[in-house]
Amino acid sequence: MKAVLLGYGTIGKGVEILCQKVEGLDLKEVFVLPQFVDLPYFSNDGEGMVTSDDVDIVFECLSGTEPANTLITKALEHGKHVITSNKAVVSPNLERYVSLAKQYGGSIQIEASVAGGIPFLDAILKLQKLEPIKGYAGIFNGTSNYILDQMQTNNLDLDTALKQAQALGYAEADPTNDVEGKDVFYKANITNMLAYQTGNDTILDPLGISKINKNDIELAKKKNKVIRHIALSVQDGNEFATVIAPAFLSKDNYLANVPSNYNAQLIYADSFDQIGYFGQGAGQLATAQAMLANAIDTMENTERKIDLKNHKKVNNSLLKENWIVRSSKDLNSLAPNLIEEGYVYFNDRDPQLIARIHSIDPDAMIALYK
Ligand code: HSE
Repeated sequence: MKAVLLGYGTIGKGVEILCQKVEGLDLKEVFVLPQFVDLPYFSNDGEGMVTSDDVDIVFECLSGTEPANTLITKALEHGKHVITSNKAVVSPNLERYVSLAKQYGGSIQIEASVAGGIPFLDAILKLQKLEPIKGYAGIFNGTSNYILDQMQTNNLDLDTALKQAQALGYAEADPTNDVEGKDVFYKANITNMLAYQTGNDTILDPLGISKINKNDIELAKKKNKVIRHIALSVQDGNEFATVIAPAFLSKDNYLANVPSNYNAQLIYADSFDQIGYFGQGAGQLATAQAMLANAIDTMENTERKIDLKNHKKVNNSLLKENWIVRSSKDLNSLAPNLIEEGYVYFNDRDPQLIARIHSIDPDAMIALYK
């Protein structure tokens, strides 16, 4: 089969390397921005590439929504098999892409957009065939995990650890999306659509790790806990809820033991109770191999179908959790359960508590306490 590649950053270069290992897959051309078109193999005619009769597979590794969205749309309208790692474009557009793929006979494959090299979405698509997925919990951002791990184990401050994560190629072009939880917001939206077989609904804004400081790390150590950035999600009938936040986790929690830039997830359903995944959620070859695995599925005609047939709604009260808050403001009006050592604790509250805290103190450090 013939393929083209959109984007020549960290992941795009990884796709180029791994394409050479797949017999029968010929990478013809790479779409790059005009200033980089100085080799015969490179082109800035993205539309020409993705609509060419001679192309079967389009690997999309651009960052951000444009020109990614335009090129994916064109490719699908021409019946191509689009394989993308770009969660920012998939999250708001997946329903449309799925229906274009159905209409024109191509496919949209998105394994690399969530949890990098871990076949997590593949597992979700497979497991849900028998029974509803009750929910999932996971670490979905390698950069945040790397930073928190470095803060906890090597006493680094957040900025130094972030610079290291950038140098190692884990962080997004704009790392704000990593440290403010937006990257996980996209990934959770995508996971929710696949896990609950539904179109998108608006989950709560994410909390990232940017407010975590050395005092919080010290408190976590004193309480025998580890801070990790997690997403939690549950489904109940026609409703679901998702929260994305830092979490003070007991040391025996599966997610507390995830080191460095690794990701990990637990998926819940009645028959198997829980299944765990662990692996590289970011990085060049880890993410590229997920894209090549999708390409091999296309070549063997074994792609997993994405079906978003439901219209489920968010109900945040499905997720009642314990919370810890560090704030310089008086939060007594929110009826905390405990105030201790400069921290305020809330038990069994749904995540709408976050908005109420933010209305009093937009700078508060808010985390789950598990
Ligand atoms: N910046 C992302 C992360 C890359 O750190 O997890 C993988 O999506």
